[in-house]
Amino acid sequence: MVDVILGLQWGDEGKGKIVDYFAPNYDVVARFQGGPNAGHTLYVNDTKVVLHQIPSGIFHQNTINLIGGGVVLDPVTLKKECDKVASFGIDVKKNLFISQRTNLIVPTHRALDKASETAKGLDKIGSTLKGIGPAYMDKTGRNALRVGDLLDKSFITNYIKLRLKHQRLLDNFHFDEDIAAWEEEFFEAIEFLRSLNFVNAEYFINGHISNGKKILAEGAQGSMLDIDFGTFPFVTSSSTITAGVCTGLGVAPQKIKEVMGVSKAYCTRVGSGPFPTELFDETGEELRKLGSEFGATTGRPRRCGWIDLVALKYACMINGVTQIVMTKADVLDTFEELKVCSAYNINGKEVQEVPFQMSKLTIDPVYKAFPGWKTDTSVISEKENVPDTVNNYVSFINQYVGAPVKYVSNGPGRNQIITL
Ligand code: GDP
Ligand code: IMO
Ligand code: MG
Repeated sequence: MVDVILGLQWGDEGKGKIVDYFAPNYDVVARFQGGPNAGHTLYVNDTKVVLHQIPSGIFHQNTINLIGGGVVLDPVTLKKECDKVASFGIDVKKNLFISQRTNLIVPTHRALDKASETAKGLDKIGSTLKGIGPAYMDKTGRNALRVGDLLDKSFITNYIKLRLKHQRLLDNFHFDEDIAAWEEEFFEAIEFLRSLNFVNAEYFINGHISNGKKILAEGAQGSMLDIDFGTFPFVTSSSTITAGVCTGLGVAPQKIKEVMGVSKAYCTRVGSGPFPTELFDETGEELRKLGSEFGATTGRPRRCGWIDLVALKYACMINGVTQIVMTKADVLDTFEELKVCSAYNINGKEVQEVPFQMSKLTIDPVYKAFPGWKTDTSVISEKENVPDTVNNYVSFINQYVGAPVKYVSNGPGRNQIITL
């Protein structure tokens, strides 16, 4: 049986914290897509940790962690992260496994990402520049090097071939930065990677399922950044939705049970692209300040706005969300009034559907206002103590999107979560 935790907005919904919270209930936590563009924050004994490649179940000794075949893996980031988790006494050689099908990010992928973004000028995606797009292009272009290839004698020959292909592309972009230092650390990290556990992940995971074990699939990014269903072209390059669990881990759809969608009580986005409820005023600034909305991977300030229920309902639909975890409710504690977007006004017409190409349209959000809760919610642990104002806000969301908010996260701490 497989449950899923994934983001319903534009990423950074608090997935890391939520996966870490639920991980003790599972035998395996598996990342199914994305790469080091992800930054998943969690707290271990009050120490903040940001994970980019390793699943967020790694701090639970009885939980196995798997990097699935749908992930793109940067060995350099992985090595640094393994050192970090080792400093907490975690033995990655014991409870971290990597699919042989996982595609490798090589230094020239990062260079290509940078060159491509620079060439786009004002139209840039706002990529994290971790090489994600170029790595997935080599996957679909059938050129990629995969983790299992490290066991093959021709790895270096194939690396050189790929590098030459990339060099021609880089020359076209007139990219002339010296990446020798990147390559040096890459090969050091490759040697480290060889010392980790590689598995035939689809057999590994289905074997666990057959033995009655519980699997938690951890998503990166968010549904509105999905390559197919997000705000294209301002998206990432992988399947961030539930369907990505099947292709990223090799599990059949009927094995998936609960789909837990994570959404902030408001909304953020980092990078370029449409964001109908974005606030450019003091309220937006207040959300950024109170929510510490700065990217966990790049440190960039996140764009902030009210929760967008049109987009949230769409995300619940394409993911088959069975329950919602609403995070960062405490960030709204001091606001007099809250707003939720219940429709888009496009050319004078109100719609409740996400249109084909948001980026080409002027979208005016239609808001419904709610009174703020004006309470310190961060200290609440029991459902009985949740103020009516919070319950009313949640009820409206439940009704609008057609999926229940089952949990409210009320602080970054590991146990700051209320079961409704
Ligand atoms: P992820 O990418 O979805 O894992 O989210 P990030 O880690 O990038 O960003 C979420 C940020 O919000 C992190 O700094 C978390 O520590 C923090 N966070 C998570 N849940 C809550 C919450 O309920 N309240 C507050 N105040 N912060 C939270
Ligand atoms: P987590 O897992 C928020 C955004 C980037 C950019 C676009 C494409 O922490 O929620 P890419 O590097 O994939 O080429 O960037 O997607 N982006 C994220 N935004 N959270 C993330 O991950 C993101 N990963 C990518 O800012 O707009
Ligand atoms: Mg993040």
